[in-house]
Amino acid sequence: MMFMVVKRKYTRMGLTAFVFLNLFYYFLWTFLLNLPQLELDNLDSLSASLKLSGLELESSKRFNKLANELMKRKLREDPEDVFYAFDTTITADKTELKIPNYIGAPEEERLARAPFDPRFTLAAYYQYLIEDTRPLKKIALPFHWSDWVDLHQLNSQYYKSKGRISCKDFDHRQYENETYSHDDDDELHRGAADLKDFCRDTLDKNSAFEMRMELFAHGGRMLPENAILAGKAYLYTSAPNPISILFLTKEGFYHIPLLSTRKSILQGNAVAASLAAYKNTHELVNTLDLFLQLKKIRPVQNEYVVEAYEVSLSHEDFVLDIEKLQDDLENTQRQKNLTMHEYSFQRSIEESLAKGKEAPKYFSEAKVYDSPIGDHYDWRFFNGIAYHNDEKPLILHRMTRSWLSFTRKVGLKTWVAHGSLLAWQFNGMGFPWDDDVDVQMPIQEFLSMCRHFNQTMVVEDTEDGFGRYFLDCATYVTQRAHGNGNNNIDARFIDVDSGFYIDITALAVSEERIDARFKDKIPQSLIDREALTEEINKSLRLYNCRNYHFVSLEEISPLVRTVFDGEWAYVPLNYPVLLGNEYGDGIFRRSHQGKHFVGQLRIWIKEEILIPFLRHPKQWREYYENRGRVPLEKPKQIDGELTGEELFRLQNLSEDELLRLLQHDEVFLRYQKTRDTTLFHEFESMRLLHKKSTAAMVKQVPDLPPFRYDPFLFLMRQQYLTFETKEARYEELFEASKDEIMVNWLKSIKSIKM
Ligand SMILES: *[C@@H]1O[C@H](CO)[C@@H](O)[C@H](O)[C@H]1NC(C)=O
Ligand SMILES: *[C@@H]1O[C@H](CO)[C@@H](O)[C@H](O)[C@H]1NC(C)=O
Ligand SMILES: *[C@@H]1O[C@H](CO)[C@@H](O)[C@H](O)[C@H]1NC(C)=O
Ligand SMILES: *[C@@H]1O[C@H](CO)[C@@H](O)[C@H](O)[C@H]1NC(C)=O
Ligand SMILES: *[C@@H]1O[C@H](CO)[C@@H](O)[C@H](O)[C@H]1NC(C)=O
Repeated sequence: MMFMVVKRKYTRMGLTAFVFLNLFYYFLWTFLLNLPQLELDNLDSLSASLKLSGLELESSKRFNKLANELMKRKLREDPEDVFYAFDTTITADKTELKIPNYIGAPEEERLARAPFDPRFTLAAYYQYLIEDTRPLKKIALPFHWSDWVDLHQLNSQYYKSKGRISCKDFDHRQYENETYSHDDDDELHRGAADLKDFCRDTLDKNSAFEMRMELFAHGGRMLPENAILAGKAYLYTSAPNPISILFLTKEGFYHIPLLSTRKSILQGNAVAASLAAYKNTHELVNTLDLFLQLKKIRPVQNEYVVEAYEVSLSHEDFVLDIEKLQDDLENTQRQKNLTMHEYSFQRSIEESLAKGKEAPKYFSEAKVYDSPIGDHYDWRFFNGIAYHNDEKPLILHRMTRSWLSFTRKVGLKTWVAHGSLLAWQFNGMGFPWDDDVDVQMPIQEFLSMCRHFNQTMVVEDTEDGFGRYFLDCATYVTQRAHGNGNNNIDARFIDVDSGFYIDITALAVSEERIDARFKDKIPQSLIDREALTEEINKSLRLYNCRNYHFVSLEEISPLVRTVFDGEWAYVPLNYPVLLGNEYGDGIFRRSHQGKHFVGQLRIWIKEEILIPFLRHPKQWREYYENRGRVPLEKPKQIDGELTGEELFRLQNLSEDELLRLLQHDEVFLRYQKTRDTTLFHEFESMRLLHKKSTAAMVKQVPDLPPFRYDPFLFLMRQQYLTFETKEARYEELFEASKDEIMVNWLKSIKSIKM
């Protein structure tokens, strides 16, 4: 997401305070950028005292001691288990599941549907990979989307006697006609698709389990609950299997092809068979144990892992030579045959060249009526709007980490860009309100990624959690200019539980008109000679994505190692220039849509917390100091926004005030979980801004666990569910539906007789 500044905030803030606040950061910034030639020691202490009051705070023994005491107390006095999220490590007790009865049972006794649980699926696959003695190269794994994505919404339809879902449930043309007036051309009120373009009813009930329909394409704008069903129905009835699956580990990865036939564990595929054998000796499976066991017996692939401190990019990384690419694919084909990934890649290049500038839009988002919010979700994996949910930051955190880990381990160069780079600049983490993540790659790296990993299911390191992400490269790779604007995004790394995604854009030399910002850099000699534009390109070394963003080689190269959301990452060393160009003085704004950056704690805090804290200190203190002993009302939520003066005060709180602020559970949890990494970022920024190397520092950064709880475990907790209770519920439903089937059968016999 591009960072958008809410101007409204500043109109209500005193003008003087506004100017002052911005000037303050502006001078600091330019000061830091322009003074590397000064006496460094002076500069260090000066900037530390200005921007980095946080550093002073951390070096205060008193503050640290009190903060640690607060932590001990909070964790000790936690009757409601508010701080369960403090420990994000995956332990055995979080992953031990009873193997359900249907595993190994004859077909007629098997449930028609089984509950989804990624821990169970993963355990079954790990067990299979442990059992099978063939080398990984010789293995292809079975796959069905229902084992990897929660499709339970389809069950309610299945178990209801009346009304299985059918295509007409997805036809929104009439709804649109009846709900909105005919001259209403609001985009959010239009977009129902013609049924024949995306859905067909079928008689053959075995074609896709029991569903007598096939939803084979995106069906346009829908009501939210139908949009959820449409994505799930697509996965269940029509979506092709991914081409491969990639399991991330701390040290590397396993990359294994998938069979293209669709067969699930419930249908008794090879994975189920292996688990059935295991069941003879074990009652429980333990995902983590099996994962660790697998790592012991099968070495991971780790020969491509990027470990350099600095990564240089070259002009050639950004030049797309289609003929050369095609020749290369043909040579490979002659010598050793293409992989499935490569076949698909070759076809996509042909398709891209054939369509040229007429390329249709590749990605479809979950369009819903009356809200643009569906745009943040891939339609196939849309699972409802998690906009205000506590779930969203958990998902984005894990998705970002898995992307960074994936690209680094398979040896791809990528960096954090746009809004995500801006967020990193503040504290080394994404913004807590982000809806997506932006990353960029040079075109050559991008092509290599698609050639080997397009349609890959990437599985989070099981020692961290159970996330699954689908890498999807758009077809039209040869189009490097904006064109018809259909395909600004080159690829997406999609969370299959929610549909949230990382936008991946490739940068290349293209026929796009150069950004005004670079025009005056064209050397006179080239203009005079009416030199080839290519020569201009080459001498300027300018690259663009498909949405008019230009950067020069100097701006993005070299990349330098850092930490983003606690994971090893790379950013352009020249990030201040990039950010300055893109956001102007937006980089100093410490307020966004009711969230404020409290520099001393280095986290963003919601206004609804800050208002009672600043305006009603007495009440706040009484509430938090007596909590658990004296029942008291929570500090009142006061309407209105923080004033300019209050915002200013927020940047320079005393130690006592900060400790008081930390009494708020949410603030405390966030600070405590991230203080090391954000502190690291602050030291790191100081050095990077002074053009000093951070090589020695980053080497010391340990492998940091996720800061945020696993989203699947989080949901289970929220719903008071366990794998076993879900399983029992399904058994009940299954038994009930058998009766129902009997009743229906009897009814049908009767009707024949009459
Ligand atoms: C929608 O309304 C238009 C104009 O009244 C009509 O021609 C069309 O058939 C209607 N479509 C549906 C699906 O009801
Ligand atoms: C190459 O792969 C294709 C598709 O998988 C297959 O049909 C063909 O037999 C393979 N050829 C060789 C020589 O392995
Ligand atoms: C990625 O795979 C999809 C699905 O097979 C295909 O449509 C697309 O063209 C592929 N993209 C690339 C760049 O290979
Ligand atoms: C950049 O180079 C391409 C060819 O590689 C050329 O078609 C294009 O016009 C050039 N763009 C500019 C702005 O010089
Ligand atoms: C921050 O507050 C302290 C008093 O608590 C004051 O001495 C100091 O000058 C203030 N610093 C800034 C930059 O306003």
